[in-house]
Amino acid sequence: MSDRARFFTEESWTGGVIGLGYVGLPLAVTMMARGLEVIAFDVSPARVAELNAGRSPIEDVSDDELAEALSNGMIVTADPDRLRAADAIFICVPSPLGRNREPDLSYIRAAAETVARVVQPGMLVSLESTTYPGTTEDILVPAATASGLVLDEDVYVAFSPERVNPGADMKTGQIPKVVGGAGEVSARVASAAYARVVDSVYPVSSAKTAEMAKLLENTYRAVNIGLINEMAQLAHELDIDIWEVIDAASSKPFGFHPFYPGPGVGGHCIPLDPQFLAWRAREANFATRFIDLAEQVNTKMPSYAAGRVADLLNTHGLPVFGTAILGVGIAYKPNVGDDRESASIEVLRVLEQRGAVISVLDPLVGEARIAAHGFAPVAQGAALDDFSVAVILTDHDVLDLEAIAEAVPVVLDTRGAYRRAGIARDNVVSL
Ligand SMILES: NC(=O)c1ccc[n+]([C@@H]2O[C@H](COP(=O)([O-])OP(=O)(O)OC[C@H]3O[C@@H](n4cnc5c(N)ncnc54)[C@H](O)[C@@H]3O)[C@@H](O)[C@H]2O)c1
Repeated sequence: MSDRARFFTEESWTGGVIGLGYVGLPLAVTMMARGLEVIAFDVSPARVAELNAGRSPIEDVSDDELAEALSNGMIVTADPDRLRAADAIFICVPSPLGRNREPDLSYIRAAAETVARVVQPGMLVSLESTTYPGTTEDILVPAATASGLVLDEDVYVAFSPERVNPGADMKTGQIPKVVGGAGEVSARVASAAYARVVDSVYPVSSAKTAEMAKLLENTYRAVNIGLINEMAQLAHELDIDIWEVIDAASSKPFGFHPFYPGPGVGGHCIPLDPQFLAWRAREANFATRFIDLAEQVNTKMPSYAAGRVADLLNTHGLPVFGTAILGVGIAYKPNVGDDRESASIEVLRVLEQRGAVISVLDPLVGEARIAAHGFAPVAQGAALDDFSVAVILTDHDVLDLEAIAEAVPVVLDTRGAYRRAGIARDNVVSL
């Protein structure tokens, strides 16, 4: 073990975090909970003020956990120079796609500039943001060594993808962490550091292997969701219940992993991450046909779901135009209040464009954000008698599915929520 790996294994050290969102904040709080010191930096003064006031904007970090981290000395700051005192820096900034679906690396580049400014001999720098294979070597290594520090001798650079699943039970420290170094010593140093933060570390031979592993995980999901969304449309044509088909196939004890249809893929991971790979592939003159096909199927699902709502209304002699439709759930997935890139919104937009009057019930997203999308917010527990149809788009646990099916004459369930809850209702139709 190198001296530096031993330091990260045995000593009390300080972790710096760049970017305090869904990934960075849980990481910072986890490091505190595991006895390390933390300097948490974000460019947004509003985010820093909110956190220092003890308000966590993220469901996975409670106000109590944040308060405990703060009272144990976690520094939350908008001053990047405070990071000079860190022994390891973890970069957790956004990595969206640009207008033409190409990687927008501006946040990673900005974080790399911060690294170049604060880097000290002996520091470990690890990138956690999802990105194309090669980013760590292309952007982070030059930044960390710009001042003349030598990789693997004075400074250590790694990539370790974040796999946190907001709203799910497994938290940051419990999810195994893939770690790839930009050099052999970097790999050992980074693995030693992460072993203090998470229960299990899975070292790989290079940073780009770790970068691609993350993209494979989410491409696998996107492709399989695309497959099941196509199967759902076929099953509907054949008058077969796709949910029963999936349950039956899942009874096979090996070789089948269930995926479920829905109104499209949302959030800032599954629709985006395969595009990093597709973009890198194009550079190498390589066609990623599965990625493209899954994207084609998945991006058409919102209009397919909207069409199914229209068909349902039609069977009741109602037009889409002028009809009051209740959208239930506009978060991009269950049990989170995050509505970024949500397919639910796309479904409702299609119906709105056809003249429907849209209201939305989503207790987690909240009324102000619902109104900001131009939809009328409906509170949980409010009377629902005025709606002709409800469409279940995101199946939060807190929803009262019985009350919705009781009050609204017809319900399209795009998530199989009633089936899963064991509620049998004649007026509920599955996607
Ligand atoms: N949210 C998820 O579920 C999830 C899961 C796995 C991986 N990821 C990946 O993790 C990365 C971060 O995602 P997120 O969801 O935490 O983003 P986020 O938008 O929730 O938070 C990012 C934070 O970074 C801050 N920031 C932006 N530029 C900065 C800079 N130059 N210096 C310091 N702070 C800066 C922003 O103010 C914001 O608070 C992305 O690459 C994402 O793809 C996200």
